[in-house]
Amino acid sequence: MMVPHYRPSFSEKELKAVQTVIASGYIAQNGQVLQLESVLSGFVGKKFGIAVSSGTSALILALKALQIKPGDEVIIPSYTCSALWHAVKAVNAVPIFADIETESYNLDSADVKNRISHKTKAVIFPHMFGQPGYIQEVVSLGIPLIEDIAQAIGATINNRPVGSFGAISIVSFYATKVIGAGEGGMLFTDEPAADSYLRDLREYDEKDNLIPRMNAKMSDLTAAIALSQFKKLPEFTEIRRRILEEYKNILGEYMILPAQNPNLRSNLFRCVAIHPDHNADQLIQTAKAEEVNVRKPVFKPLHSYLPGITLKNTEDAWQKQISIPLFPDLNASEIETVLNFLQKIMGNHND
Ligand SMILES: Cc1ncc(COP(=O)(O)O)c(C=O)c1O
Repeated sequence: MMVPHYRPSFSEKELKAVQTVIASGYIAQNGQVLQLESVLSGFVGKKFGIAVSSGTSALILALKALQIKPGDEVIIPSYTCSALWHAVKAVNAVPIFADIETESYNLDSADVKNRISHKTKAVIFPHMFGQPGYIQEVVSLGIPLIEDIAQAIGATINNRPVGSFGAISIVSFYATKVIGAGEGGMLFTDEPAADSYLRDLREYDEKDNLIPRMNAKMSDLTAAIALSQFKKLPEFTEIRRRILEEYKNILGEYMILPAQNPNLRSNLFRCVAIHPDHNADQLIQTAKAEEVNVRKPVFKPLHSYLPGITLKNTEDAWQKQISIPLFPDLNASEIETVLNFLQKIMGNHND
């Protein structure tokens, strides 16, 4: 049986949480949403949390809150989820791609700096694969910053939680995320004005004026699952840590994420590796034959859809990097299958 790249880790607790919401008779945005907002804003170190329907709608709302206008430029990485590009296009702004650095594989502040023009109005900084990057260097460039912790909630930079650095931060609760609730997202801010603006904009009904608004609300069913998953986060991280140790024994220095930097502490969401002799496509084929669903950490760099852009570190990472199954629900026999695959590809490279 093929080891999947990811599978949600649910128990009776999520079932019970959903049952309680159904029995309450209030399944849309209600008390569970409020509770999730309060718990998570505290966790990431921001005053306010605003729950929404997805990470993408959170990004769109964040851009609106920063008053990004048509024609404004927003700097984003190319080595990321395409949601960032879609969000920037949704407000008719212009995505400008910057390259990544080769320690955390997140935005390179020097390259971001090079791409700033008089039209630059925001930077979106995702901490990819659970690995925090050098976001403080980007904060110091003085451009309004959206911090994207869709993959990194729980990670820290010098013991400070990711999500606390952006003017606005966002997270996703998509099924395969650290806190997986099917769909869903949240924005975080310290600004009371942004909090009221975002709460108003996420729902259109029963308003005193007619301005363009959205239905980007989260349901209490989703919030109940997210709360239940959040409570398990320490346990999930500990299981991931134990599995990673076994992978590391075989991969050695070829396990490149989580990075070995105690100041940039990953939440251990993904295990990313390279091989000294084989590229990602070759490794994915070998993995398939060994019944392991290994993937590229990013489906396709965003700039590669467009002509005439070269981003060296991004292209290099995409050609070489693989993401190895790492999730709390992996059972002993699946871990064994993954270890056999790693043994096969590494041979005596780390002897
Ligand atoms: C870094 C990052 N940002 C944003 C998103 C978008 O979140 P959603 O799928 O909830 O819209 C994702 C992926 O899902 C992501 O990986």
